[in-house]
Amino acid sequence: MVTVEEHYESLLSDVYTWLMGGFDEAISNNVAFFKSRNITPSSSGIAVDLGAGSGFQSIPLAELGFNVTAIDLSKKLLNELNSNFSHHSLVTINDDILNFKDHVSANCELIVCMTDTITHLKSKDDALKIFQYSFSSLEDGGKLILTFRDLSTELKDTDRFIPVRSDENIIFTCFLEYEPTTVKIHDIVYIKTHGKWELHKSCYRKIRLSVEWVENQSVKMASKQLWR
Ligand SMILES: C[S@@+](CC[C@H](N)C(=O)[O-])C[C@H]1O[C@@H](n2cnc3c(N)ncnc32)[C@H](O)[C@@H]1O
Repeated sequence: MVTVEEHYESLLSDVYTWLMGGFDEAISNNVAFFKSRNITPSSSGIAVDLGAGSGFQSIPLAELGFNVTAIDLSKKLLNELNSNFSHHSLVTINDDILNFKDHVSANCELIVCMTDTITHLKSKDDALKIFQYSFSSLEDGGKLILTFRDLSTELKDTDRFIPVRSDENIIFTCFLEYEPTTVKIHDIVYIKTHGKWELHKSCYRKIRLSVEWVENQSVKMASKQLWR
């Protein structure tokens, strides 16, 4: 078992963009996501992307006119982001998202934590910290956007094998091993090198958050903040 950081550095970051359908598709999916929710800068324009990866949210947000701080543990993914987009409106920080307040000096208009980043944290308590820090960092009317996979319902037997993506050179399968509060994510990747299939494998943990729990906790936390 490796840490999230080691998992991305040793295996996932090399195929992450491919896994998301490629750079152009991943960017256009997120452009459509923000457009459909009318996300545009309307006050300070300060945005923070928690677990920015290779920038599939940060880049569209910077293009929409936000000043974005993109935070991630993966140096490789942040390097990929910087090689695809270079503008003073987007700053990358290699750090844990639990430290994000150290890198943002003013209140934010928007905080995003998307595509499962929140479930990469070690515990529900850490997720609660992210909600608490976010609500205390948002300006009046600011928004927190979270997207994640609800792993609270257990898949059984062979349904735990998930064919994630494949093409003529890469086959990516995921196997889920459920624990009471976490799931062991086994990523099994065959990559064709010089005509031969090579197996790459690594395993890390995600936490099991239900949509209901996240909604209840974040509403509770946001209303507490309102009364301060
Ligand atoms: C599933 S990826 C999502 C990346 C990006 N938001 C996207 O939609 O493509 C999760 C990202 O969170 C990062 N990550 C996980 N835990 C983190 C932590 N505690 N602090 C900073 N980054 C973290 C990983 O390195 C990875 O880039």
